[in-house]
Amino acid sequence: MDNVLIKKNYLIKIKKIQDHNAHYYEKNKPTISDGEYDQLKREIIILEKKFIFLKNKNSPSNTVGFKPSKNFKKVKHKVPMLSLGNAFNEEDLKNFEKKIINFLSLKNSNTIEYSAEPKIDGISASLIYVGGKFLKGLSRGDGIEGEDITQNLKTIKDIPHSISTKNFPQEIDIRGEVFIENNDFKIISEKFANPRNAASGSLRQKHSVVTSKIPLKFIAYTHGYVKNMNIDNQTDFLKKLKLWGFKTNPFNKKIKNLKDLILNHKYLEEKRKEIPFDIDGVVYKINNFDLQKRLGFAANAPRWAIAHKFSATNSISQILNIEIQLGRTGALTPVAKIKPVNIGGVMVSNVTLHNEDEIVRKDIRIGDTVSVERAGDVIPHVISVDLKKREKNSKRFIFPLNCPSCGSRTVKEFNETTKKKDAVRRCTSEGYECEKIAIEKIKHFVSKEAFNIDGLGKKIIENFWNLKLIKLPQNIFDLNYNEIQKLEGWGRLSVTNLRYSIDQKKKISLERFIYSLGIRHIGQENAKLIARHLKALPNLLKLSESKNIDNLSNIDGIGPTQIESIKNFFLNKINLNILYELNKSLSIESVIPINNEGLLNNRTFMLTGKLTGISRAEAKSLIEQNSGKIINNVNKKLDYLITGEKPTIKKVNNAKVLGIQIINQQEWIKMLNKTS
Ligand code: IVH
Repeated sequence: MDNVLIKKNYLIKIKKIQDHNAHYYEKNKPTISDGEYDQLKREIIILEKKFIFLKNKNSPSNTVGFKPSKNFKKVKHKVPMLSLGNAFNEEDLKNFEKKIINFLSLKNSNTIEYSAEPKIDGISASLIYVGGKFLKGLSRGDGIEGEDITQNLKTIKDIPHSISTKNFPQEIDIRGEVFIENNDFKIISEKFANPRNAASGSLRQKHSVVTSKIPLKFIAYTHGYVKNMNIDNQTDFLKKLKLWGFKTNPFNKKIKNLKDLILNHKYLEEKRKEIPFDIDGVVYKINNFDLQKRLGFAANAPRWAIAHKFSATNSISQILNIEIQLGRTGALTPVAKIKPVNIGGVMVSNVTLHNEDEIVRKDIRIGDTVSVERAGDVIPHVISVDLKKREKNSKRFIFPLNCPSCGSRTVKEFNETTKKKDAVRRCTSEGYECEKIAIEKIKHFVSKEAFNIDGLGKKIIENFWNLKLIKLPQNIFDLNYNEIQKLEGWGRLSVTNLRYSIDQKKKISLERFIYSLGIRHIGQENAKLIARHLKALPNLLKLSESKNIDNLSNIDGIGPTQIESIKNFFLNKINLNILYELNKSLSIESVIPINNEGLLNNRTFMLTGKLTGISRAEAKSLIEQNSGKIINNVNKKLDYLITGEKPTIKKVNNAKVLGIQIINQQEWIKMLNKTS
């Protein structure tokens, strides 16, 4: 059979399975038996294994075995389930430790102790025990809200239903990883793409009877909310978990310095093949809980932990074409289409070439044979070109000087920080005027960290855009559901689900709302800072009228680049229209102060000079934890100027002129130690 026929036969099977999925999941009325369905799936996977050029986004190898049910109740985590930052090499680890040393104002790393734990490649779950009884089990969800999967979790033998050990906390949320061992996966491998999908699919499906048939395992490693627990470090906590009846990882270790962390990483990378389940790195956690508390969290991940991923996997392939993709900020990213290769179990057919400079530097051309790397979560990229294999008539790649979408001029901006021209070329259109940028902006608007609208994925946005159903973000809240129901692939149930997820997101925090607007240089962290400063929507509307924008410079972390970008954003009429239209259909919640009963409530502070025994970052975090506010300039809004060693004289003098209280470190500490 030639390749065309093989592909045709394959696509017929894919279409069949899609139809059966629709009958099963959307209409709840399967037309074939489970056995026949499984056989069809098996045939598709066998074909894909035999002919690596066969690939399809609707293949069962791309989708988890069981489609997650929309029926799970959403429950808010009392303590968010965050993710971890990644380290890929020694340099990243050194930086991680350096930041900790600086934050905690330590002299060196001698006193730092880590808990090093293999990073299991499964699905995290949170188990809530009250009075020793397993009350509720949640999936991670978006980290803030999870799904109630109690019944499915109850089928896992490693999860105790009740714990009667003395001193077990009155209420505790035990967190760990649900996974499937590689041997058990072999038995069901025709149903799932990999062990992680098997765990995720079986954990998040409708019927717990189905889950009970999959030999899932659970290993515990941390906790969320806890009431009354007297343990002061992670190693002791892991020991307690074991005592309470949970499985912990036998390869967990307490380690003191970077050198030994790296040795342990090497050892585990070697050992990986012998471990009965998939691990994809080692998690390092600062062992001491007090230090963890002091270090706290950055946007999405703790400052006190990092995942050290196992090393990259490489493969050789050939560049078939170079395409230019447009990002939501107008960046032109060259992407190489390569002959599909299997790298570490994943088929790779697209690799990023980063930017124009990278293509020039590596002289990457269409037709070249290249070495491709796929490391952890990083997008696959080209490491090097095999010049010996280059065709004689190959030509240099000419990077387009005009936007491939709207034809506008493209530029490389001058970067004020590096005093160099950017490596990235950008479309000069203002945003929504350029079609491809507009689509990317809408994808950003609905993305997980922004509006997080379930069921409105990237492909659906593209489809709705082409059908003119969504042209601007506000159209999402005014969709023509009758039209959607008529579309191929949409049924009454899926439309009802979509409508429900959209309606649910009509209430949104100011912080997420600002982030979702996609203002350049305003990522999650900056959106949070701005939201806290503005407190409520009317103040954002004032910014949009070009009022008070310069006041944002009082926020620590917001600099001239961000201010300039916000000004530009609100100069654009389409952006203004989006803001006003969204305001009509949404309820944007004001910021609830994190702790408005703190000792420094309603007071503003600024630091100048070097403090003793505490880093600037920690001092700022302490002020904020106690409800104080940091500002960046000496002005009338400032209440206290805290002076350390060698303060900036100009700041002190300005403060004197304005009658601002000038206090030293001891006086500030006294304010914090006052018992209320
Ligand atoms: S601690 C605040 N410990 O890795 C972070 N996570 O990228 C708490 N994971 O979602 C996570 N093994 O699914 C932690 N020993 C371990 C882990 C581990 C695997 C997973 C977990 C988490 C992800 C973070």
